[in-house]
Amino acid sequence: EIGYYEEPFRPQYHFSPPEKWMNDPNGLVYHQGVYHLFYQYYPEDIVWGPMHWGHATSTDLLHWENKPIALYPDENGLIFSGSAVIDHENTSGLGSEENPPLVAIFTYHDMEKEKGGGNDHQIQGVAYSLDNGETFTMYEGNPVLLNSEFRDFRDPKVFWDEDMKHWVMALVAGDHLRLYHSDNLLEWTYMSRFGEDQGAHGGVWECPDLFELQVEGTDEKKWVLLISINPGAPNGGSGTQYFVGDFDGITFTSEQQEAKWLDWGTDNYAGVTYNNTPGDERIFIGWMSNWDYARDTPTEVWRSAMTLPRKLSLAIYEGEYTLVNYPIEGVADLLVEEKSLKLQVPAGGEVSTELNNGSQSRIHFTSPMEDLSFILKNESGEVLVLKLDPGQGLLNLDRSASGLVDFKETFGRVQQMPLEHLGDGELEFDIFTDASSIEVFINKGQFAMTAQVFPTEPYSELLISNQGSEPVEILQVEVHAVNR
Ligand code: FRU
Repeated sequence: EIGYYEEPFRPQYHFSPPEKWMNDPNGLVYHQGVYHLFYQYYPEDIVWGPMHWGHATSTDLLHWENKPIALYPDENGLIFSGSAVIDHENTSGLGSEENPPLVAIFTYHDMEKEKGGGNDHQIQGVAYSLDNGETFTMYEGNPVLLNSEFRDFRDPKVFWDEDMKHWVMALVAGDHLRLYHSDNLLEWTYMSRFGEDQGAHGGVWECPDLFELQVEGTDEKKWVLLISINPGAPNGGSGTQYFVGDFDGITFTSEQQEAKWLDWGTDNYAGVTYNNTPGDERIFIGWMSNWDYARDTPTEVWRSAMTLPRKLSLAIYEGEYTLVNYPIEGVADLLVEEKSLKLQVPAGGEVSTELNNGSQSRIHFTSPMEDLSFILKNESGEVLVLKLDPGQGLLNLDRSASGLVDFKETFGRVQQMPLEHLGDGELEFDIFTDASSIEVFINKGQFAMTAQVFPTEPYSELLISNQGSEPVEILQVEVHAVNR
């Protein structure tokens, strides 16, 4: 008998659905002490199919309670990705000021029309809950935003614009972002577009998010636009780019021509941020998979998990705006200290330290940018290799021998992350492993790399190998077990 959430590869401190297929996080909103996580869900199979919104809630973003399915497909189509807001002033008239509605805004996709060769242009719909997400009612006037121009027209992210005193919707239409506004969440007026000539365009734009952040250490505020793209990510398949710019209430503009990437690993996609969080924190959750092989990964009961919740902030490194993403502070409460040491690695040699709880651990250390490899290894000899390349200024993640990898040919490809604007050159690593993932953060989220891995037994050893001609000291090595 395999227990609930105890199957092989089952994440222990990352959200995964109890069973069946999951993709994007949807409707991330905080209300009355509860964080909601809705998600793209197909309850009949472990591959993508007619989409619903699954639902889970949490008070700390780390321990989740599974809830009944929130939204089912209806006569307008399948329920694709979208967002949720709390309509405090009952602008929609769907609730009351005493009991403000939780309003979900999502994309309808009509498979029947698509199959019939008809017009499958995506449209937007609304559903609302008057009991803090327990149950939803479809708005009877759906759809709320029609479209006859674009085949891809989806993933609305809605937020309240306090300066303009109206709602704003960001959505994507194939190769660009479109912004709309509304006084009541039900009637939407077009404002502006952005992006066909900027950033990466290797594939369709998906899952936008637009928000303002204070630039660390300054009085300046900037707007950040997240855009997921599939394919066209730097290490293949799907990934998330961002733009730093300005929003004047009507138009988003950015001087940025080249894409910047939120995460260089292959497994952080369709991520967006919470609406309505206490203290205005920007908290991001991504889907820890890649459309390239999402349906092929070796699990049977459920498929895929979400990233750790990450706090976003905006910093300037050597003149370059950088979106920093790093696990929320609450993660510290899950950590149990295993050991703390410093390691001398001789030139041309290696040292090793044991991991008691390698499938759920947090490994921290500070390293110079030298010819070093950090290797997680288990008793079957499966290895996950993080290799610094000082010549090229890269970190390589090699999972080609990390466990089960043969389910898709591209899965074993080496992933690269350029380490630019390093300042004094020190690298402070934070590595989080769960049963089937690794999340690598450098310098508190200046760089992030997220990847799925399927080791057939826990990694039991951290091996540091020095290919350089000088001995190297690895400082502040700390290993923690991560509790569920
Ligand atoms: C992103 C995405 C969205 C779409 C959803 C469908 O992964 O393709 O654009 O709404 O998944 O499940």
